[in-house]
Amino acid sequence: MRIGEGGKRVVYEHPDDPLKLIKVTKPRDPVTENGFLDRLADALDFDTRQRAISKEIKEYERVVALERRGFGVSPIAHMYGYAATDRGPALVVEKIASHDGKIAQSLRQILSKRTLDLNELKALNIFAKKLFELDVKASDLTAANIVLGHRFTDNPNPTLEAVLVDGYGDTHLIPVRSWSRRLNALSNHRRLHRIAQFLGLQWNEQTRLFSLSQG
Ligand SMILES: Nc1ncnc2c1ncn2[C@@H]1O[C@H](COP(=O)(O)OP(=O)(O)O)[C@@H](O)[C@H]1O
Ligand SMILES: [Mg+2]
Repeated sequence: MRIGEGGKRVVYEHPDDPLKLIKVTKPRDPVTENGFLDRLADALDFDTRQRAISKEIKEYERVVALERRGFGVSPIAHMYGYAATDRGPALVVEKIASHDGKIAQSLRQILSKRTLDLNELKALNIFAKKLFELDVKASDLTAANIVLGHRFTDNPNPTLEAVLVDGYGDTHLIPVRSWSRRLNALSNHRRLHRIAQFLGLQWNEQTRLFSLSQG
């Protein structure tokens, strides 16, 4: 059953594991995605989507390795690898769920209906703290890629968390984010400011906290 969709992928329930989701990459649209860079990539047989996926896996593995060494808790949804499906190869991931086990909502979906409550704001601030602690390379840190929900995989009674489900990995051709922790932090601050604006909040770079904006 199809339960979500972004620009690049379609998200389905896992057929026999309620704690997982599967993501199938959409084929490139030959009409709209036929710009100079698309054609150059074709000519060089250089699949940018495949490259983005391998960067994503690399970043996920780096952050999980840091978590195991006690550097902080990963804010990235778990990735379990690829599986063959009738819709082509699909990425199996941890499902971020609402309290009743259904798929959770992204910040963007929540904001189309209402503002965040204080518990959700707290979860978002813990998320932001982890981004800096673990120097997470987030190339597409947007409200659609942050999901607010529960992680039932290791805990039958999980608290509410904000989790990054997409858009991580150093996707630049020149991987500046990986070279410099400071440059990566600058980039994360910029995106958190934008998310704050979208949520009607304020992002404070010094305290690294979101707060309700005054006025
Ligand atoms: N692990 C997950 N748990 C819960 N919801 C998810 C998860 N991954 C994706 N989603 C939902 O599906 C949408 C699309 O998934 P995403 O991986 O961002 O696809 P795309 O690469 O096309 O942007 C997300 O915006 C989010 O709402
Ligand atoms: Mg996305």
